[in-house]
Amino acid sequence: MFSDLAVPKADPILGLTQLFAADSSPEKVDLGIGVYKDEAGEVPVLATVKAAERWLTETQMSKRYFSSAGNDAFNSATRSLLFGAQSDAFTRSRTVQAPGGTGALRLGMDFLRVARPGGRVFIPTPTWTNHGHLLAAAGCEVVNYPYYDVATGKLRFDAMMEALQDLAAKDVLLLHGCCHNPSGADLDADGWRAITDTLGRSGALPFVDLAYLGFAEGLEEDTYGIRLLARRLPEVVIASSYSKNFALYRDRVGALTIVGANAADSDRAYEHLMPLARALWSMPPDHGAAVVAHVLGDALLAADWRQELAEMRTRINMIRALLVKHLGGAARDYAFLSRQRGMFALLGLSPEAVRTLREEHHVHMTGTSRANVAGLNIANVERVARAIASVSDL
Ligand code: LMR
Repeated sequence: MFSDLAVPKADPILGLTQLFAADSSPEKVDLGIGVYKDEAGEVPVLATVKAAERWLTETQMSKRYFSSAGNDAFNSATRSLLFGAQSDAFTRSRTVQAPGGTGALRLGMDFLRVARPGGRVFIPTPTWTNHGHLLAAAGCEVVNYPYYDVATGKLRFDAMMEALQDLAAKDVLLLHGCCHNPSGADLDADGWRAITDTLGRSGALPFVDLAYLGFAEGLEEDTYGIRLLARRLPEVVIASSYSKNFALYRDRVGALTIVGANAADSDRAYEHLMPLARALWSMPPDHGAAVVAHVLGDALLAADWRQELAEMRTRINMIRALLVKHLGGAARDYAFLSRQRGMFALLGLSPEAVRTLREEHHVHMTGTSRANVAGLNIANVERVARAIASVSDL
């Protein structure tokens, strides 16, 4: 009987939605799920997306199936965004469209079981909570490696490099391409080089989750890590998402890209991806991918989109700076937040402090004190900073 089923644990990110809805305060602030909000607190549809949707409504004559790989123009535009159309990695890679970054990760994990049978997947501590769920669903063995120290606000670089000595040729290393979720702390160029060398020596496969391309330093800059890996190593797997940089969240637009040692190897890998995708969802949803393909395929729209993306990035960085400024009086030094990038900041608060923030100050974030900085604005950042400072010793 269904009534015999145990009550499942709420998702630590999605579970926040009900608590936020139940908070009747007009002052409530949602710093939970990772969506970009503008100064007015809205999650708007980008103007370039609206333009592409109008074009699509007027010109689309059929909704016949494509294939399990989805929209070819979208897949090619994705490779060009990731590597540049003139690059060797572009020639050596293949992309399959997937339902969001999550779908791309799941497809990639199913592929790992084919490409690296018996291999373990090394994931950072901390990492996005859904990584663990996805790996469990795909039946992958997980090894945690140290990445970030919440107490000091710094990478645990030496401990990470030591743990990665254990990587074997059949293993997989999961990395965040930029805007690490939940810490916002990214590898610098030296860090990427050291990891690339370790992967080169061990033969382990890098699997990069790139959900926030364009949110850290810029579209080109944020590909530094994946381009280095693709230049120096024979094989790379990348799960990328357009949820954030095109604000297409619920349209579910993502891609799995595999870089092989040569085009023939990638074609072989691609042939394995197709039946895996067929078994998962048969065909990915088309609408959002068609929108992205149209924007990226039109020079004027693409330039406008880059501008819209730059505005989101600039606002997040401006809010980060204001948050650090207004936290100036707190017992803890929060300057580390201004060195981190993307939507998330891990504040290092206790569960009790997080609860007090929610119940007494109407500021909502995950139980681990991950705050979505993009949920703040000029009007509320000072009040929220004061609230954080007031609970930081709980
Ligand atoms: C997040 O971490 O909040 C986002 O990636 C959204 C999600 O699905 O969890």
